[in-house]
Amino acid sequence: MTPASRVAIEAKGLTKRFKTGRTFIEVLKQVDFDARHGDVTMVMGPSGSGKSTLVATLSGLLRPDDGQVTAMGQDLWSLRPGRIDRFRLDHCGFIFQGFNLFSALTALQQVTTVLKYTGLSPAEAKERATIALSEVGLANRLHQRPTELSGGEKQRVAIARALAKQPRLLFADEPTSALDGENGQVVIQLLQRAAKQHDAAVICVTHDPRLEAYADRIIHIEDGRILDDRRTTPAHESARQPELIEA
Ligand SMILES: Nc1ncnc2c1ncn2[C@@H]1O[C@H](COP(=O)(O)OP(=O)(O)OP(=O)(O)O)[C@@H](O)[C@H]1O
Ligand SMILES: [Mg+2]
Repeated sequence: MTPASRVAIEAKGLTKRFKTGRTFIEVLKQVDFDARHGDVTMVMGPSGSGKSTLVATLSGLLRPDDGQVTAMGQDLWSLRPGRIDRFRLDHCGFIFQGFNLFSALTALQQVTTVLKYTGLSPAEAKERATIALSEVGLANRLHQRPTELSGGEKQRVAIARALAKQPRLLFADEPTSALDGENGQVVIQLLQRAAKQHDAAVICVTHDPRLEAYADRIIHIEDGRILDDRRTTPAHESARQPELIEA
């Protein structure tokens, strides 16, 4: 297995500008980026440096003004909008700071609702959702609604929802910032497990230096440019058995 074949997503020359009043600000400046299966790739940098914009352009949520994203072998931004939505549904999981849970739904329903869009029958979706929630330690919280869950539990529901469809690309934007240290650690360990056990490429934006210990690679971005990119684990450590890769 060559290293190149484990690249899950690669961007070249990503540029994004926003119009503010009469002027444009360039938020991403010709950014080259890649992330590999089995790695937790952390994106760090000051507020306003372009981290969330980078994640949005990598994941099909925000069209860049220039540059290319090749994700799971597809030229993402050349796809029609409907196909981009389908790409996200098929390959991407998202975890955000604010949990983004539906207030009326129980933990189980939050996960099954998303799974049904992937073509699973209601019974299959329920079974898969129950397993995903059990894996994040919420087997005894299946029927609670968000108001009846703690912040850490809500984030774990969001993670179960993202992981239940076993995405190959997992995007997390400040997933621990609303949590205390202990819950933050649980969350990052779950993300790490997605990378190591399910071979996902985990791309995690964070301000939290305590999470660095869980990274395989740390990318520093400042003012729309990547200033530093270093591996913290040898590349081969994150490789899984070849037969399970790129199924
Ligand atoms: N839709 C938009 N319209 C105009 N400007 C925007 C828009 N979205 C983001 N920006 C600007 O782009 C810059 C980068 O924003 P981005 O959200 O990517 O930063 P960030 O690194 O994620 O910051 P934080 O750590 O605070 O979340 C900021 O200056 C922001 O104000
Ligand atoms: Mg942000």
